[in-house]
Amino acid sequence: MTTDLLRRAREHEKAHLAAVSPAALPHWHVTGGVGWINDPNGFSLYKGEYHLFFQYNPYDTVWDTMHWGHVKTRDFIRWERLPAALAPDAPYDESGCFSGSGIELDDGRHLLVYTGVHKEQAPDGTEREFQTQCVAIGDGVDYEKYAGNPVITGADLPEGGSARDFRDPKIWREDGKFYLVAGDRCPDGSGAILLYESEDALHWHYAGTLAESSNRYGRMWECPDFFELDGTHVLLTSPQEMRSEGLEFIDGNTTLCLIGQYDKARRRLLRQHEQTIDYGLDFYAPQTTLTADGRRVMIAWMQYWNSVDYRPPENLPFFGQMTTPRELHFRDGRLIQNPVRELEAYRGKAVRYADFALDGEAVLDGIEGRCLDLTVTIRPDAERGLCRDFTISLAKGGGYETTIRYTPGAHTLCVDRSRSGLAEQILNRREFAVRDRGGVLKLRILLDRYSLEIFVNDGEDAATFVLYAPQDADGISFASDGALRLDLEQYTLEFDDHGNAI
Ligand code: FRU
Repeated sequence: MTTDLLRRAREHEKAHLAAVSPAALPHWHVTGGVGWINDPNGFSLYKGEYHLFFQYNPYDTVWDTMHWGHVKTRDFIRWERLPAALAPDAPYDESGCFSGSGIELDDGRHLLVYTGVHKEQAPDGTEREFQTQCVAIGDGVDYEKYAGNPVITGADLPEGGSARDFRDPKIWREDGKFYLVAGDRCPDGSGAILLYESEDALHWHYAGTLAESSNRYGRMWECPDFFELDGTHVLLTSPQEMRSEGLEFIDGNTTLCLIGQYDKARRRLLRQHEQTIDYGLDFYAPQTTLTADGRRVMIAWMQYWNSVDYRPPENLPFFGQMTTPRELHFRDGRLIQNPVRELEAYRGKAVRYADFALDGEAVLDGIEGRCLDLTVTIRPDAERGLCRDFTISLAKGGGYETTIRYTPGAHTLCVDRSRSGLAEQILNRREFAVRDRGGVLKLRILLDRYSLEIFVNDGEDAATFVLYAPQDADGISFASDGALRLDLEQYTLEFDDHGNAI
């Protein structure tokens, strides 16, 4: 059923998208085109295509009463925009259709499960917010909210659970049943990931508490995702009020990967260790899906909640982008992530340098741009050993530059985007440890107009940043303190006539 609210959102986005120049949008990173987006939602394979929804305010580039925007793709790079899927038009979600997930049903329908937010006036006149889990079922374009909504409420919480902070269901299927995990808050303010079970994805019961934050690694845990990966179990979550620990984590909203074994009988994750998912500044609320050929692919909101009040300098029609979808693996005790292999099909012109001797500064012919796929490998010089540091400057020109500095002696990488067009008051610098590979370091760098994604040593670490330097700041240069050897492979990425995949 298309309600007035949904019709209004669809008409608004249609009218305003028509006026958006493709030159204002990233080439393959998903945006709303207009309005505001946050978390990826409903990332799922449906009838041979991957659908991606997102938290969406079509009307303005700020967060407000959440709708679900919608795109789909066959290859994770070229996306087709679809009309908004959900509007906050029911009594149980009138304050927002918050994050959730999606799954294809056996009968060919597409089921979305999301958090409905609504407010009630208490007898003392104060307003109380409630978050419940709700279902909508559709055909890949139009979705009907289930008449029995909400399907999980405060009455289904374990002892001490919070009906105020109960959100972001992620659904999957296992042994002929449906399961979902959702974030909740305990009486001491800490977070818990609750697990629910269902025969039909409509009637749910609480099955256990998969993991708790116990106020370690942040407090409330948002946007959980739980899956098996290469023989181990992985719980992704996005903690609020995180505190940095040395070079690990950042203060505020960040992401965490909990790795362990799944005790199915007790519905508990037996945690073995934790890992930062992304060492950049703009990465939140990742969600995964399983591809038709069995790959676990993750996409995240490419933005940091704590800096959303600082707007990009250019007057862009959208706010909020998604990361490049990434293939996940588990290797040597670590979560490994690399850009989906489909990106390689868009590679155009290549420029290569092999065994280039660098000692000081260099600009290399043909190495430049703001839409590219660049792999840089550095090795110690056979005679002179390790350099003291090595810096790549990019998005450079007219006083702008973003630097990636490697210090082999300290095994650290430091990214500084203080001159990338963003406000000075926000966090612009991030340093993190990289594994010691005898002074050899391989960086794959993706640039797409307003972003920088770095994949270290074939995905051992990743770091994601938004950049808003003007597009003609497209220079790239290299510098070293000491001698080293450099291999470079740069591809332009080619899209259609509009220069956009979406
Ligand atoms: C995380 C989050 C979710 C919530 C959504 C609201 O970024 O706070 O927990 O569902 O955003 O837009």
